[in-house]
Amino acid sequence: MATTTRILCFVLVMVLMGCCCSAKIYKVGDSEGWTAKGGTYYAWASRKEFQVGDSLIFEYDGNVNDVTRLSSALEYQFCNSASPQAVYKTGHDVVTLTEPGYHFFISSNHSQCVAGQKLFVFVVQYHQIPPPPPRKILPFAKDFKVGDSQEWRVPDERDFYSKWSEEKQFHVGDNLLFYYNYEVDDVLEVSGDLEFKSCDTSSPVAVHNSGQDLVRLTKPGIHYFITSKTPHCEDGLKLRVVVRPLTRGGPKKMQLSPLDHLIKWLQSFRPQLHH
Ligand SMILES: *[C@@H]1O[C@H](CO)[C@@H](O)[C@H](O)[C@H]1NC(C)=O
Repeated sequence: MATTTRILCFVLVMVLMGCCCSAKIYKVGDSEGWTAKGGTYYAWASRKEFQVGDSLIFEYDGNVNDVTRLSSALEYQFCNSASPQAVYKTGHDVVTLTEPGYHFFISSNHSQCVAGQKLFVFVVQYHQIPPPPPRKILPFAKDFKVGDSQEWRVPDERDFYSKWSEEKQFHVGDNLLFYYNYEVDDVLEVSGDLEFKSCDTSSPVAVHNSGQDLVRLTKPGIHYFITSKTPHCEDGLKLRVVVRPLTRGGPKKMQLSPLDHLIKWLQSFRPQLHH
């Protein structure tokens, strides 16, 4: 009975997403496959736009690796595979991206993960479907991709990142995701307005340089990020965010549309893939 329900749900989801005709399949790392070789998967992922219904194929040596799917940016950051959402280990795994938002994958082989065998992708919903409600269901932390499609690189307009930041509301617990070419730039957190204004890199609070960094905003107040590369910082590659204390309260009672109700209901059947 449960299986029948699941199959029905699956079919329903597929029909709703209209993904039968346009879903794409991506081989992670192309010919290199899923490996620690070649550094981060930043360049691979950043050139693609993933949509709900697309699939990732992971090919690797199943004797030393696996594909461990994590639920949070923090686990991803620290290669923490202690409580995975799912583990795949056939050496040829197909993972369909069924939800919009960020998806995190690492190898649970810690040294491999630290060496760069980690991938996160940002998945967008097909435009026919109203944006589904991950925030209504999980009204906690929010992830911001810094600069959106511009990512973290010298902008054409010097005030690009201040505009980007002013349009948003950041709260304690939210994450900033910096996507960039690690051979060109990095991310330095600096402590004050003076360092920020003068692009002073002499005493950073934190340094990130993996090309895909997750920075958790843990304290309220103003946070400053610059690149250590001159003259990129002077040219506008700097970001100031105002982080508000966590006063959102509980989930707001929102009017859910019938489709939202359906999606919420479907999500309660999400299969558990623990091994
Ligand atoms: C982790 O990967 C390395 C290869 O880089 C391998 O030698 C080692 O056996 C792996 N560890 C486990 C626990 O599979």
